[in-house]
Amino acid sequence: MRKALAPALGAILALVVPSNVAFAADSPDISVTNTKAHLDQLQSIATGNGGNRYTGRPGYKASADYVKAKLDAAGYTTTLQSFSTSAGTSYNVIAEWPHGDANHVVMAGSHLDSVSVGPGINDNGSGSAGVLETALAYAASGQTPKNRLRFGFWGAEELGLLGSKYYVNNLPAADRAKIELYLNFDMIASPNPGYFVYDDNPAGDGARDELVSYFTSKNVQTEFIDVQGRSDHAAFRSLGIPTAGTFSGAEEIKSSAQATKWGGTAGRAFDPCYHRSCDTISNLDLTSLDRQIDAIGHMIWTYAQKDYTGGPPPGGGNLLQNPGFESGATGWTGTTGVITSSTSRPAHSGSYKAWLQGNGRSSTENLGQSVAIPATAASAALSLWIRIDTAETTSSTVYDTVKVQVVDGSATSTLATYSNLNKSAAYVQKTLDVSAYKGKTVTVKFVGQEDSSAQTSFVIDDVAVTAG
Ligand code: PHE
Ligand code: ZN
Ligand code: ZN
Ligand code: CA
Repeated sequence: MRKALAPALGAILALVVPSNVAFAADSPDISVTNTKAHLDQLQSIATGNGGNRYTGRPGYKASADYVKAKLDAAGYTTTLQSFSTSAGTSYNVIAEWPHGDANHVVMAGSHLDSVSVGPGINDNGSGSAGVLETALAYAASGQTPKNRLRFGFWGAEELGLLGSKYYVNNLPAADRAKIELYLNFDMIASPNPGYFVYDDNPAGDGARDELVSYFTSKNVQTEFIDVQGRSDHAAFRSLGIPTAGTFSGAEEIKSSAQATKWGGTAGRAFDPCYHRSCDTISNLDLTSLDRQIDAIGHMIWTYAQKDYTGGPPPGGGNLLQNPGFESGATGWTGTTGVITSSTSRPAHSGSYKAWLQGNGRSSTENLGQSVAIPATAASAALSLWIRIDTAETTSSTVYDTVKVQVVDGSATSTLATYSNLNKSAAYVQKTLDVSAYKGKTVTVKFVGQEDSSAQTSFVIDDVAVTAG
């Protein structure tokens, strides 16, 4: 009897408890079978389109169409955002779950493109299939999110993070300010896997720690990795948005200590097929994939319910894009070369800053950024750090100046003027009231001007427009 009953009970349990059900709201089991099926489809797409899913080639568009169709069918509001690159047209797929507070957006994303030489199944079919399956599982779960969930599948990452940069650059400032968290997944099923958690954005430390404690609860040890500009979270990080992510390793070699904690082969790359034609459907570790997608699910389920209504807006509420100039000219327009990492003047933070004038010739330079100041704000302020050095010797005459201006349509107002008389070897913070521009989209502008001799350098960094 016993022997006969056990399989029968197992069959009944299998019927009433399907394996893809979320047992607890904070710990869904994202289906590795379904995720693998998405990867099979991406492999078929590559195989049917010249062996790759590269930007500008038909395998990329087919990948975007596949992801979009799945999300559409699940009830997502989707957008196919096209943009041009040196290798042809590329696309981002953006999918929003149309429930929850649209003022508090939690995002997860992955790049969907491969390199030109192969199908890119681990890099980054894996992250894309995992994010896609998590989005589909959330839609099917019947959860009621407190926050708005948005998923991004980026094009042209392999050409220099182009899709994610295009997305953030084309997002109005008011929308940027609503993104509370961006989670990135780029390579999560490496065949000789590691379990790395991004550690490159202090604003994302809370999410980073949540990932670590999730893996710890599953008895998986993690290591921090400083990914910096190597994947799509960088575009979000440069806006001051909290970011985090995971990574199972690329071309780096697994050490013997890492093989002891994670298994696999020491002295071998985490992914020996990284950026090669052999990054196929055979180039996956399904245990890594299974653990990683459950971590994605855990993060989405957790952050969908996080209460963001009490805290300060992300980035301290800074409405400016790239306020510390660390992404170069991103977000700013004006005189070429003003934004620089030249070491002959210090940055206030990071290595880039805006260095206006300093040439000792009769000339002007400018730099500006458009910003929408919410109508609902009680007040709004523009703050900046400025350092001024000069070869002028006078203690009474203004020769060289920088003006801080606000351009409102055809009207330009000068909020402050600093000159050679304000020289200071240390950075000084200035705060200016811009409450008069509530409800308007204006351009914040710096205009430097020098006379024909004796340089003055106006170096500006860490600019903020905040509305409270
Ligand atoms: N972004 C890299 C690529 O697509 C992979 C990578 C991800 C490297 C995360 C480091 C960290 O080629
Ligand atoms: Zn890559
Ligand atoms: Zn990648
Ligand atoms: Ca800087």
